Amino acid sequence: MDTDAACVWTFILYMVCLEKVISAETVIEYSEDNKPCTYFEGTRRAKYEPGLVNCSWYSSSSCCKRTEVTSVFASNMMPLYRASVDCRNRINYMMCYFCSPDQFHWYKEGKVHVCESFCASIHIECREAFYNGKQIGDAYRNGTAFCEAQNFLVTNSKSCFKFDANVFDASPPVHISLQMLSGALVTVTLARTMILSVV
Ligand SMILES: *[C@@H]1O[C@H](CO)[C@@H](O)[C@H](O)[C@H]1NC(C)=O
Ligand SMILES: *[C@@H]1O[C@H](CO)[C@@H](O)[C@H](O)[C@H]1NC(C)=O
Repeated sequence: MDTDAACVWTFILYMVCLEKVISAETVIEYSEDNKPCTYFEGTRRAKYEPGLVNCSWYSSSSCCKRTEVTSVFASNMMPLYRASVDCRNRINYMMCYFCSPDQFHWYKEGKVHVCESFCASIHIECREAFYNGKQIGDAYRNGTAFCEAQNFLVTNSKSCFKFDANVFDASPPVHISLQMLSGALVTVTLARTMILSVV
């Protein structure tokens, strides 16, 4: 077999494999700028949204608009008192859920499906803090109770809404590099493996 033929066969095998992987395990396949915004009932797709003041880490691909963030954060003028930075960051992140371009993974049946671990970490970091007038450590037995009071559904499933501390770090977050691949087809499989194939 000459080199060309070998290449062709390798390519065909690769395509067959890829198709098997995709049909067997793929949940969803969307390019970075085409993710459906389930909070907005799928009438929107995530897109570049400059000037997000509070949920700024979603600017490169966002389901919310600048004005929506402003009104959510303004109506909760002072939701938090006596909060540590770790607490504040978590509450801030939680409040920005409707901006996430990945909400189609965990905003289902009209509810945020939040990871139990995220709720637990809020309960730990925010024990002393007051949120909407209640001291979190006193008012809620555990993180699950706190999240349920926000009308979230608490779960341990693989695709739940979880905290990403990277967005508050001074160093550029990892997802910046992913954003460079926009236009590429991003395939997320259940096994949490990611196949990036440029089409
Ligand atoms: C939202 O952003 C504004 C402007 O940067 C800031 O003053 C305010 O403290 C932020 N709110 C929260 C809850 O982080
Ligand atoms: C939280 O507390 C409830 C009882 O109020 C309990 O049923 C549940 O198992 C607790 N969850 C965790 C994660 O500790």
